[in-house]
Amino acid sequence: MAERIRKVGVVGLGTMGAGIAQVSVQAGHETIGHEISLDLAERGRATIDHYLTRAVEKGRLAQADKDAAIARLTLTTELADLADCDLVIEAVLEELPLKREVFAELDRVTRPEAVLATNTSALSVAEIAAATERPERVVGIHFFNPAPVLPLVEIVRAPESSDDAVRAAYEWAEGAGKQPVNCNDTPGFIVNRILIPLLNDCVRVLDEAAVTPEDLDKAMTNGAGWPMGPCALVDLVGIDVHVHASEALHDKLGEERMAPPERLLRLQREGRLGRKTGHGFFEYGS
Ligand SMILES: NC(=O)c1ccc[n+]([C@@H]2O[C@H](COP(=O)([O-])OP(=O)(O)OC[C@H]3O[C@@H](n4cnc5c(N)ncnc54)[C@H](O)[C@@H]3O)[C@@H](O)[C@H]2O)c1
Repeated sequence: MAERIRKVGVVGLGTMGAGIAQVSVQAGHETIGHEISLDLAERGRATIDHYLTRAVEKGRLAQADKDAAIARLTLTTELADLADCDLVIEAVLEELPLKREVFAELDRVTRPEAVLATNTSALSVAEIAAATERPERVVGIHFFNPAPVLPLVEIVRAPESSDDAVRAAYEWAEGAGKQPVNCNDTPGFIVNRILIPLLNDCVRVLDEAAVTPEDLDKAMTNGAGWPMGPCALVDLVGIDVHVHASEALHDKLGEERMAPPERLLRLQREGRLGRKTGHGFFEYGS
């Protein structure tokens, strides 16, 4: 029987960490968010407040529930403050030495039975777990962006992850209203392993078949039933995020389709990173 998770820590309150902390407080968990500075931590809380306020304005959330959710969030710049968490989810930058450093410290400060999870997209969960003395309590909990909106969560089992830790992570995600799926610690896990090379194929077709981004998206939404066209999707994810994930998969698996197409590298060099910069394949008004 997996241990019940009450208190949750989230390390890094950037794009993903703030979203994950929002999921956690909305699911009723006392949650402590860690950042490298109080300003960044407050920025994370402001992001959560903004999305919850919008939900209230749209009538999807009661004001009292919003207030209760925000009240469950506390902030810190000290990892030692995560000592009594049952689950800690790490969402710092995608850099192995940094994540290993964070896990080594979490291993020192948290209770031995706490589950330590990484939200990494492309790093090996096993290599992160190896920085701890308890790799059996380490799993991947891979959310999709935006974490409060997208239902899927990949629960990643590394070779040494225990059944109990995997089950605890799965049940926590399910209890938070997500749709968890189980998979092993392989490059790209499930969705990125399939989607990244496929999106790269789509981008290559733009040049090979002299198609406009508008027509490519029209083709894939109308011909393949995709809910969103591939160019719009890469713009939403962020060209830089997609390029980084492509490079990581290509490094690990070596398939040519996984390497980022030249066209994406060019957009990245030009700073056309998609929706977040207002320009990518398409133009976005502010
Ligand atoms: N952005 C996505 O679409 C996406 C999707 C799924 C998974 N991920 C993964 O989630 C993780 C975070 O990505 P992101 O997009 O949220 O990045 P981000 O840059 O928006 O946020 C990272 C945050 O970590 C903080 N940070 C850095 N060092 C820290 C430390 N030692 N302690 C605490 N906080 C620290 C930074 O200040 C920053 O706020 C990465 O591993 C990424 O691969 C990203």
